[in-house]
Amino acid sequence: MAFSRGETDVLPLASGRAPGKIILCGEHAVVYGRPAIAVPVFQLQAEAMVYPDPEGVCRVEAPDIGRGVVVATAADDDPLACPVRLVCTALGRPLPPWRVLVRSAIPVASGLGSGAAVATAMARALLAAFGVSWSAAELAALVYEVEKLHHGTPSGIDNTVIAYGQPVWFVRGAAPEPFTVGTTFDLLIGDTGIASPTRLTVADVRRGREADPARFEALFDRIAAIVHEARQALAAGDRPRLGALMNANHEVLLALGVSSPELERLCAAARAAGAWGAKLSGGGRGGNMIALVDDQHRLQVTEALLAAGARRVMATTLA
Ligand code: PMV
Repeated sequence: MAFSRGETDVLPLASGRAPGKIILCGEHAVVYGRPAIAVPVFQLQAEAMVYPDPEGVCRVEAPDIGRGVVVATAADDDPLACPVRLVCTALGRPLPPWRVLVRSAIPVASGLGSGAAVATAMARALLAAFGVSWSAAELAALVYEVEKLHHGTPSGIDNTVIAYGQPVWFVRGAAPEPFTVGTTFDLLIGDTGIASPTRLTVADVRRGREADPARFEALFDRIAAIVHEARQALAAGDRPRLGALMNANHEVLLALGVSSPELERLCAAARAAGAWGAKLSGGGRGGNMIALVDDQHRLQVTEALLAAGARRVMATTLA
């Protein structure tokens, strides 16, 4: 459906926003009950605005990806229709005669949480339009239902960090612990430009663990120990320590089989250009890597990443 009416000529009833995210450490092991730390990326945001629909139909339009759906007739698993249906079901309301306009600056399918951020922004906008306020935990639970459509059995880390909008200590099945950091941490996000669906690398790790449980459980335990230390380094504001832990986490991810030549190249380039540390982030094989940098090296590391083949480099500060 064409995006027919600009958002400037009618005032929205309500709006909602949500940040992107990266996993700082603990990916993959988190699927097996170990802790992970994820952080929001406020430099990348999704936004949803709710307008009265001129035709009295409940619809969602996402001009950035050239999609629009009428909620009543969209497929059961449609990612744009689902957040609307879930909010209405949770509130016991019929589909409202509203048009939800979605915009997002978060690259899709690259481990930056674009799906969860769009669903969170939509849920926030709809709840505000209904005059209802939800806790971050309630919001995270609703967005988890949307995430399940795309990722099978996600650990729940994406929807949690995005709904809380704060660094979170995450253990599957336990209440997430949002926490604060001891100083600012500047991160560069290097995109390999390679699409790598997370469910494929998660499935490969599952197969590896089935074939050699003792080896994989030991690797998950190593990651857990690193994640515990990383939390201390974050709280203490210790950048060199956090960088060393990121390097160590990356080595274990390489041993798990989820790195790739491109990710290795980008991590090596970042370290050689003066980053405190670097690792792949998220599902692996493609997607993104992250590098912890200080002010003096930020430009050098950015240039090194681009020279080593990064499609784009994004900067974010963890504060
Ligand atoms: O690719 P991302 O950033 O969505 O991260 C996936 C993280 C995994 O631990 C590999 C899977 C999960 O569900 O937690």
